[in-house]
Amino acid sequence: MSKLAEKPTQKVTDTQLYGRLLRYAFAYKGSLILSVFGYVVYSLGNVLLADLTQFLLDSLGEEATVGPGFVAQAAQWIWPPGDKTATDYARIAVPVAAVVLSLGRALGFFAGSYFMNKVARSVVHVVRTELFNVLVRVPKAHIDQYSTGELLSKVTFNVEQVSGAASDALKTILREGLTIIALVAYMLYLNWELTAIFFVVAPAIGLVVQVIGKHFRRYSRRIQDSMGSVTEVTAESLAGLDDIRVYGATEQISARFASVSLFNKQQSLKLAFVQAVSTPIIQTLLALALGALFWFALDPEVLSEFSAGSLVAFITAAAQLGKPIRTLSNIQSIIQKGLAAAEDIFHQLDTPLEADQGQIVLSQVAGHIEFNAVAFRYPNALIDAVQNVSFSVKPGQTIAVVGRSGSGKSTLLKLLARFYTPSAGQISLDGEDIQAVDLQNYREQFAFVPQKINLFSDTVAGNIAMGNSVSSTREDIEGAAQKAHAETFIQELRSGYDTLIGEQGVGLSGGQQQRIAIARALLKSAPVLILDEATSALDNESEALIQLALESSRQGRTTFVVAHRLSTIEGADTVLVMDEGQIVAQGAHSELLAQEPLYRALHQHGFSEV
Ligand SMILES: Nc1ncnc2c1ncn2[C@@H]1O[C@H](COP(=O)(O)OP(=O)(O)O)[C@@H](O)[C@H]1O
Ligand SMILES: [Mg+2]
Repeated sequence: MSKLAEKPTQKVTDTQLYGRLLRYAFAYKGSLILSVFGYVVYSLGNVLLADLTQFLLDSLGEEATVGPGFVAQAAQWIWPPGDKTATDYARIAVPVAAVVLSLGRALGFFAGSYFMNKVARSVVHVVRTELFNVLVRVPKAHIDQYSTGELLSKVTFNVEQVSGAASDALKTILREGLTIIALVAYMLYLNWELTAIFFVVAPAIGLVVQVIGKHFRRYSRRIQDSMGSVTEVTAESLAGLDDIRVYGATEQISARFASVSLFNKQQSLKLAFVQAVSTPIIQTLLALALGALFWFALDPEVLSEFSAGSLVAFITAAAQLGKPIRTLSNIQSIIQKGLAAAEDIFHQLDTPLEADQGQIVLSQVAGHIEFNAVAFRYPNALIDAVQNVSFSVKPGQTIAVVGRSGSGKSTLLKLLARFYTPSAGQISLDGEDIQAVDLQNYREQFAFVPQKINLFSDTVAGNIAMGNSVSSTREDIEGAAQKAHAETFIQELRSGYDTLIGEQGVGLSGGQQQRIAIARALLKSAPVLILDEATSALDNESEALIQLALESSRQGRTTFVVAHRLSTIEGADTVLVMDEGQIVAQGAHSELLAQEPLYRALHQHGFSEV
């Protein structure tokens, strides 16, 4: 699908990427600070619990005096031992300290974890909303590059991935990083020479982590793309279920789904493999360091420097280092998933929105439209869909556009509605270059019934009042429905105008959907009305009725119709005959019939495309 939609071209560094990602998290300073504070308390609690063993061990025996540990000293300061023996003192002080420290650590963990999650969910919400807001505002040419499924997956899956890197990873880095710092500081305090052993293995661990990170990123990108494919195949298949069944393509589509899902599984497994391999490697490195540590620690000369309690505390602290280091190396995968997703999301967020440099605000539009040598080529197309198109329309005129299928009729009308920007030439409305008009103001001048009707999961009334829901009353809505000859069938629906229509108008016939779309256009009562085959799904009788409605509604407004009915075409002031993207003839029906062979041929075939 997405040939143009490849990865962003200019390379941003990981630091830039991560920095940009973290900026989203840093918007929640209050929660972040509470969380950091919580984790500081948590890691201090960890260290002090190690220190408590020193207190306990040094308080044993007849001769014991209270040792140099932090907890021991703090306890003495708060509650002086008086004439109690060290053991008697410790019997009270150690359990109390253990409970207090554990409680503190528990509270710290709660604050750290809850407030970081608050940050995470907020980041997901903000990124997802920003992404959605960009997607509904970027040029159609950009959206055309992706399938709906791919875009769905970006808004759902990719955004969730980002939350990991923006918060879970941050949480782990804080919690485990602070724990490591506290433990190492404590060990340095007890014996810096022994602690130095750990600094020897640190670079080796760093290297392993880096190599693994590269693999994580590659597989994360593939997993992400494959989620896009899974969503794409699912969305397409559900939308095209009727065709799949009628053409016996169930097996084929099942196989296609299985293959995209399998690819996802394979890439996920590769990621899991790298992750599973990395932990034992890091653990082995740590074990080597611990072995060396014990060897040196049991050296008689070193031993003499330690009290029994501080030796045990040192070893406890050293042994405690393993878990945070392992955890830290594990979050690599979360960070890399997040970065791969952030790369893609930022690429979307950085897409320029629809060109809207227009300053001019039109009030009272008469509807004078001019095309001057307009050309347009769709992105990735080899030839222009529309070229060298020039014509002029007076206010209030009706223009019929005819031509074979693929001759560029819809494209012409989409250019007029500024869904696409011409690659050459100029279009003007009431003498103003349309690019110079404020986009929102410009679109207010148009009502558009597209060739492919779009209805939303909303009530019938909500669908008709779309975009006008505040200003239009129920009478306005019913009036528009009446003009579009939609009233009778709407009243027969279960809850009339309040009936919920399924997604894409499920539950309504093509003609009914078309009439709701026409009612929507009539309600807007804009100066320019565009009907792209708006009556193609109607039977003769409905079309005749709508013809009458359009007849009255096009009074005083410029109207473009792509139509096949002779009656519509005959009633037009001008007929534009298109072929291969060009206007090959224009004029009144009778003139064209007399002079233009192509037009005569179209006429003979009833202007029918198929
Ligand atoms: N989104 C698109 N991307 C690329 N090419 C397109 C797109 N839409 C239409 N085209 C091509 O542009 C040409 C004109 O299409 P269109 O304006 O829809 O014709 P018509 O409405 O007269 O049937 C066709 O060749 C068609 O294949
Ligand atoms: Mg068309």
